[in-house]
Amino acid sequence: MSQSSAIQLENVSKIFGRRRKRVEAVRQLSLDVSAGQVFGFLGPNGAGKSTTIRMMMDLIRPSAGSVLLFGQPVQNNLPLLRRVGALVEGATFYDFLTGRKNLEVLARSGGCYDEARIQTLLEQVGMAGRADRRVQGYSTGMKQRLGLAAALLNDPDLVILDEPTNGLDPAGIQDVRHFIRNLAEKQGKTVFLSSHLLSEVEQVCDQVGIISNGRLVQTGNVAELLSSQAVIRLEVMPADRALGLLLPKWPTKENGRWLEVQAPREAGPEIVQQLVAAEVQIFQMVVQQQSLEDLFLAATADSPGEDSENA
Ligand SMILES: Nc1ncnc2c1ncn2[C@@H]1O[C@H](COP(=O)(O)OP(=O)(O)OP(=O)(O)O)[C@@H](O)[C@H]1O
Ligand SMILES: [Mg+2]
Repeated sequence: MSQSSAIQLENVSKIFGRRRKRVEAVRQLSLDVSAGQVFGFLGPNGAGKSTTIRMMMDLIRPSAGSVLLFGQPVQNNLPLLRRVGALVEGATFYDFLTGRKNLEVLARSGGCYDEARIQTLLEQVGMAGRADRRVQGYSTGMKQRLGLAAALLNDPDLVILDEPTNGLDPAGIQDVRHFIRNLAEKQGKTVFLSSHLLSEVEQVCDQVGIISNGRLVQTGNVAELLSSQAVIRLEVMPADRALGLLLPKWPTKENGRWLEVQAPREAGPEIVQQLVAAEVQIFQMVVQQQSLEDLFLAATADSPGEDSENA
């Protein structure tokens, strides 16, 4: 266990219901998030993101495995949970109170009331001008911004955000991105955010974990993951012979005279040499860097479906 781990999940599983209603929402998930990072937890609807987050905050208990925050087990550990701030699946507020008053109530009940800090947070999330209006008149995006401020009231070391840009317009998304980067870079906080917005994770996160059907299917440094994955497209003749040559080493698809080879950009020269040596003619070659979206689709398409639950 490294000292600098903010979050460690060890073989965590969560099963809801029994028999025919049994849902294995999270399956043997292990994850290590270093302190000071922005970690993106990416997955399609129903993948198990919120369930994982709820276990990280001790809101529900794992069926198996353990959750450690800053090296300590999270269960019943109130002092530890005080170091965590979270925005989980749409924050709820008192409608009849103003935004500012809501934050005051939350801060008082959390034992961290500080008027100046509340004002600063309201400014940071772009709500200072609307803070003295009742929440019942707020839009979804405004509530989401207030929720972000609420997550930071106790000046947490770890900030957990479940779909933080839900309901925000493009400008709001941009604001929140800056806000999140700032938390890690200027304030040294660890941020764990879930999202199904790939562009968001690509732009904001240092590390990413992709979850599908409750399983972690891919994890790593965002920049490295992206640079390790490219599609090299080659127009060749004869294509079937070229396919036979490349397939043992690289996943390759044939599309008429075009081959699509999944390989890092650096493999280009080797691929060309191999084809030339076998007297395959090459007419064109194009390297397409994969986006996180491509990576995400590939990772989640290969993952086992519901029927492999007992595998
Ligand atoms: N309390 C519960 N009881 C039964 N099943 C549940 C419960 N909570 C979640 N599930 C199931 O667990 C699976 C994972 O749900 P979860 O909410 O963690 O997904 P998610 O990745 O957060 O999805 P989304 O992107 O839609 O928010 C789903 O199949 C869901 O139906
Ligand atoms: Mg969710």
